[in-house]
Amino acid sequence: MTKSPVTVTVTGAAGQIGYALLFRIASGALLGPDTPVKLNMLEIPQGVKAAEGTAMELNDCAFPLLQEINIFDDPNQAFEGANVGLLVGARPRTKGMERADLLAANGGIFGPQGKAINDHAADDIRVLVVGNPANTNALIAASAAPDVPASRFTAMMRLDHNRAIAQLAEKVGAPVADIKKMAVWGNHSADQYPDVSYATVAGKPAADLVDAAWLDEYFVPTVAKRGAAIIEARGASSAASAANAAIDHVYNWVNGTPEGDWVTAGVASDGSYGVPEGLVFGFPCTSNGGEWEIVQGLEISDATRAGIERNIKALEEERDAVRELGVL
Ligand code: NAD
Ligand code: LMR
Repeated sequence: MTKSPVTVTVTGAAGQIGYALLFRIASGALLGPDTPVKLNMLEIPQGVKAAEGTAMELNDCAFPLLQEINIFDDPNQAFEGANVGLLVGARPRTKGMERADLLAANGGIFGPQGKAINDHAADDIRVLVVGNPANTNALIAASAAPDVPASRFTAMMRLDHNRAIAQLAEKVGAPVADIKKMAVWGNHSADQYPDVSYATVAGKPAADLVDAAWLDEYFVPTVAKRGAAIIEARGASSAASAANAAIDHVYNWVNGTPEGDWVTAGVASDGSYGVPEGLVFGFPCTSNGGEWEIVQGLEISDATRAGIERNIKALEEERDAVRELGVL
């Protein structure tokens, strides 16, 4: 039986991730093959014309699940009745731009969008922030939405998770489907700590199949710096893989994670593993098909502890910087 339509709002809809994302949402990959979708595309005024072109193409696909397309340059309208918000549009760092300027510019985007979500979105709104710095932008949006539970604001760590799985699979010569229980702790930045401590390959501990030198000298830096390597190679940041990770994150959030596995999601800390409450942090998580739950009771090695601490420091610094700027 067909379900009720779900309203999905995508910001930065005319950008390169938007272009890779919208068609998959409309095809049913985000929510499942029985869920009709109403798409709200948000752009800045200069992006509206290009968004209209994308909307024409979406129409031309004749997707059976796509019920409506609306384009806005006002967040209050774009988030009206939204059930899912994909916050992709962000201010990119440009040459010579200081970190504080970047944080302030993004505060000016994610604060008002958080408020628009607070005031206009549906009660079951679920938000994934993709635009960088994703974890801190999610914190800003959540703080501007006091009536929405903080657990509904998440940041994208799934691309890092998928990258980590791909690197391990290639190293051990196994299909990616054989790899379970990967984790990437912390921030979507070069500080992140990709961690194979609990990972298995066809049921065998991954740590028995790779040596410590490969992990320290290749795996961790390759995964953590993959975004920069793609920018270097492509001349633009990752787009299709980022869109794919956004689809994976929301699909698992809404439909649940597979039995016997978990995924990495950037969620508001509840104090687990010593991460200060409220920081939006990459944790191994399961979903019961509605809410993320941080996997509890994992044994933390010295290396993992150091990785977690490095990320706490980095995210506290970002949080304190936006507080000083009056954005939080
Ligand atoms: P892009 O520059 O191609 O597109 C961004 C779009 O956002 C543009 O069309 C722009 O007009 C729009 N925009 C800017 N401000 C907006 C606002 N206030 N409201 C609505 N739209 C707005 O960028 P992209 O390649 O699509 O990347 C988008 C973001 O995603 C960047 O911040 C990028 O760094 C980030 N990203 C994150 C991950 C991750 O894993 N978390 C991975 C890849 C990229
Ligand atoms: C990525 O991880 O590919 C992006 O976050 C890189 C970037 O800076 O946009």
